[in-house]
Amino acid sequence: MTNPTAIIQIQNMFKIYNPGSGEVRALDGVSFSMGKGEFVAIVGQSGSGKSTLMNMLGCLDTPTEGDYYLEGKNVAQMSDDELSIIRNQHIGFIFQGFNLIPSLDALENVELPLIYRGMKREERRRVAVESLNRVGLGHRLHHRPAEMSGGQQQRVAIARAIAARPPIILADEPTGNLDTVSGREVMQILQELNTEGRTVILITHDNDIASAAHRIVRIQDGKIVSDTAQPALRA
Ligand SMILES: Nc1ncnc2c1ncn2[C@@H]1O[C@H](COP(=O)(O)OP(=O)(O)OP(=O)(O)O)[C@@H](O)[C@H]1O
Ligand SMILES: [Mg+2]
Repeated sequence: MTNPTAIIQIQNMFKIYNPGSGEVRALDGVSFSMGKGEFVAIVGQSGSGKSTLMNMLGCLDTPTEGDYYLEGKNVAQMSDDELSIIRNQHIGFIFQGFNLIPSLDALENVELPLIYRGMKREERRRVAVESLNRVGLGHRLHHRPAEMSGGQQQRVAIARAIAARPPIILADEPTGNLDTVSGREVMQILQELNTEGRTVILITHDNDIASAAHRIVRIQDGKIVSDTAQPALRA
């Protein structure tokens, strides 16, 4: 049964590496769903299956078994080409390592995915500048990654993720390479994006960082072991 109000619905998902005697069940029968506008943290220890689940949620990989409905469409067994279109339209990614292109400045980094979306040059520039302003980097448009602090680089990556206004933001350990203050700034931006209506998925091993979310899903040995709503402390 699919839930018509869910933006994400995963049903009985398995990801099995090296099938046979040395198999690893990185995902071992995972089911969960998210409504539009939710802010969910997925937490677990090293090796628990967080990145594997993130790869599935982000349409970066396909499961061994199970279904994944993204805005009502089953994407579990789509081809790589089909998945890349889905990714581009629905999901903004933020990674621990920023993943910016070193030879491009902030503006060009943010513009790049908009080129793939076929946006015209003028609109592209306007949208990219607006996104960089949104994360407080209007004064760093022409700095390359190496000329910015880690926190600024991650904010460029956030600007890139939100420029095309995807409904879902998927952040994998976004504060993992940052000092406490820059990490807090990044979390603040994620909270604001959520308040503005975006669905946010945060993957982290850090319980403190996870507490910014409204709901915490804990994964262990490829299984969900708890799924709890957070009290609305920060309202
Ligand atoms: N390509 C692969 N081939 C075989 N086993 C894999 C592969 N990728 C991951 N695994 C195994 O699957 C399990 C889950 O790995 P995963 O990377 O999802 O963990 P994680 O929760 O992201 O850990 P970390 O916090 O260290 O990043 C681990 O036991 C890992 O060794
Ligand atoms: Mg990982």
